[in-house]
Parts: sequence; C-alpha cells; structure tokens
Amino acid sequence: MNIGIIGTGYVGLVTGAVLSEIGHVVTCLDINEEKIDTLKKGQSPIYEPGLDEILVRNIEANRLFFTTSTQEAFAHADIIFIAVGTPQGEDGAADLSYIQQAAKDIAINVDHNVIVVVKSTVPVGTNDIVEEIIHANMTDDFQIHVVSNPEFLREGHAINDTFHGDRIVIGAENAFARDKVESIFKPLNIPIMHTNRRSAEMIKYASNAFLAVKISYINQISNLCYALGADVNAVADGMGMDHRIGRAFLNAGLGYGGSCFPKDTEALAYLARENDVKLSIVESAIYANDEQRHIFAQKVINHFKGKILGKKIAILGLAFKPNTDDMREAPSIMIIKELVARGAVISVYDPVVKKTSFLDDIEVSYATTKEECVSGSDAILLVTEWKEFIEANWTELMTFSNNGVVFDGRNILKF
Ligand code: UGA
Repeated sequence: MNIGIIGTGYVGLVTGAVLSEIGHVVTCLDINEEKIDTLKKGQSPIYEPGLDEILVRNIEANRLFFTTSTQEAFAHADIIFIAVGTPQGEDGAADLSYIQQAAKDIAINVDHNVIVVVKSTVPVGTNDIVEEIIHANMTDDFQIHVVSNPEFLREGHAINDTFHGDRIVIGAENAFARDKVESIFKPLNIPIMHTNRRSAEMIKYASNAFLAVKISYINQISNLCYALGADVNAVADGMGMDHRIGRAFLNAGLGYGGSCFPKDTEALAYLARENDVKLSIVESAIYANDEQRHIFAQKVINHFKGKILGKKIAILGLAFKPNTDDMREAPSIMIIKELVARGAVISVYDPVVKKTSFLDDIEVSYATTKEECVSGSDAILLVTEWKEFIEANWTELMTFSNNGVVFDGRNILKF
C-alpha cells in the first residue's frame, strides 16, 4: 500500500521505517529541510538502536522516501498517518496546533479518496476535530475517513516494540476504513483491537497514566522502604510475582521523565478537570514524581549536612533513560539545578548525550569518560542506568573519587 506520514519524530519515523520494512511504499513528510536531508542519506536524527539499518535498507529498495513537499507525500497515498507532536501547553492541556495544521494540509492538498490515521497522542475527541477540519477545508467531494491508531512504542526499544507490540488499537467509525487500516498491520501478526475513536484515544492516555501511577507508587513505597530498612527491589520482585500486579514498571528510582508520561499525565488530568471529573490518583502520581527528584537531591545535601557549597558532584547519566539521547523532562536536569543552586560544582558524563541545551544556563563541566567525571569528586550520583554504568568496575571507579560516596538513583548497583 502507498502510505504518507506527516512528522518524522520518534513515532512517525519509526512507523515509516517499519511499514516500509514490511513491504509498503512510504513517504515521510517534515517541514525541517535539514532533517529530511539527513534522512535521505539513511541517517537517523535520533539515537534509536537498529533504526539506521532499516532506513538504509528500505531507501535502497525504493520503498522509503523523505520529502518536505506536501504534494509529493500525498500524491499516491492510500493512507496518510498524522504523527506530529502534541506538546504540553501552558495549562497542561495538549497543544493541538500541529495536528490542526496537518488536517488542513491534507484537506487542501489531497486530490483523491484517502484514509487519515491519527497516530499522535491526542485528547479524547480530537479525531472528530480532525475530521471536521478536513471536511470544512476539502477542495472537492472526496471520501476522507479518519481513524485513530495510538502508538505504544518506547524510545530506545522502538523497533522491537513496533514489530512485537502487545496490541494494535484501531478506533474507527467506518468499517471500510477500519479494515483498510487493519490490512496494513496484518504482516506484523500482533493482536488487533477494534473500538470506536474516542475509546482508542482514551486507551493511549489511560495506559500511559496507569504506568506513571505504577512508577510513582513504587517510588513512594521505596521511600518508605528506605525509612524502615526494607529493600525495595525485593519488595518489587515479591509484588511482581502476583500476575495481577506484574514486575514491569516497578523499578523505583528518580521518577518518570521523557516526552510521554509527564505530558500525557498532565493532559489527562486537564481533561478530567475540564469535565468536572476527579482524577486524584493521576494528580497524585504527578505530584509524587516531582517530589522524587527533590528527595534525591535532598539526600545528597543532607549527606554533607547542608554544606554542599564547593563540593564536587559527579553526575553519571543525563538522558531520561538508557538507550536514548532524549533529555526532555530528564530527572538529571532538576537534580543538577537544585545542587548548583546550593553551590555544588557539577561534572557530568553520559555515554550518548555529550552536551545538552537543557543545561545551557547552568555551569557544568562535560567529561568525556566516567573516570574523568568522577575524578576528585566528593560524591557520585548515578542518574541514568546505562549499561556502561551497571557493568562498570565500581571498586576501581570509586578510587578516582575523593571518598567513594555513591548515590544510586536507580537502585541498580549491587555492592
Ligand atoms: C512510554 C510508554 O512506555 C510507551 O508505551 C508509549 O508509547 C510512550 O511512552 C509514548 O507515549 O510515546 P517512553 O517514554 O519511551 O515510553 O519510555 P518508558 O520506557 O516507558 O519509560 C518512561 C519513564 O519511566 C522513564 O523515565 C523511565 O526511567 C521511567 N521508569 C520506567 C521508571 O522509573 N521505572 C520503571 O519501572 C519503568
């Protein structure tokens, strides 16, 4: 099938790559020319294991194209995916301006019948709005159906998640459009769930918020474990053995970050407030997540009895989680800011993030190795659980520091 994709962020790019890999002809559209030029060369602008190989293979096979031209992207498309960003607005609501623009672009430029699939994470009811915008701006009487198909991939595991996802959710109001979208994904052999558009939109938010609640829950339990001398990892293992609970997303640490959970929990809480519905569990998860970073920074400050001025603190890990270079809502940012505000001298090292604009207004020195980072430090903070840190020889690493104090923000070190 011929597929157009609007937006080459994580979701759009990985979806495009995987759909071309299973035989579809895919044209990805983005307004950023530099990004499109890089992609045409088979180079991914994001760090995502396995993605480059798939890009190169399918570009060479003439199944995957990149363009900044709307006409080119839509010319032969049977299906157009919208995979643009829905950033968080001032009040916590999702900003839908990119989605609305994409809907207008489709209406104005498409000259044949087409199915529009909304992949971006959008508030309940947005697919209806997309359909309204398209129908209001259409240049001729084409049949254009809108289908919701939320994405469940994780950064850092995006390729594997797309090939081996737990489910594909298709929310449609029209059987022809539903079946056509289902046929695209058939080769993936993943269970497909049919529902209406509003339920599909809600499945995405409710899933992300549930996982966020699970993380905040285990984080608060971990604080209690710390106070009472229990081991949160053992507690999580024991809880996880109950199949009704499950062990996944029970890793206590510095709280969730990234471009999804923080934004989606806020957007869901906003939706609830707008509709006069209490969603205090999600509100509490957001609050607990924010607290978790302060609690960690405070532990470090308390270790120095409040006298942290001039102390050299080594930060191992900047990215919000391993296997990504994404710094959005990374716990490292808030922790570093809090320590710098108290006068600490910060040295950072991350295997992938070599420098970040998120710390532009903060004085930090970027080390090129973990050894250089911890050299002469008064405390080492493990902030992102990269394999390089988990597998490091910590006895040796600690000899580079002044006194070998380690704060394990991810509860992962075994010593
Ligand atoms: C998340 C969801 O897991 C995906 O299913 C979803 O498609 C995606 O959001 C999205 O909406 O686009 P992602 O943000 O890439 O994916 O990363 P996760 O691996 O889910 O981790 C999210 C955060 O939770 C990270 O900060 C991670 O460190 C934290 N986390 C995760 C924990 O603190 N503990 C855990 O046990 C698991």
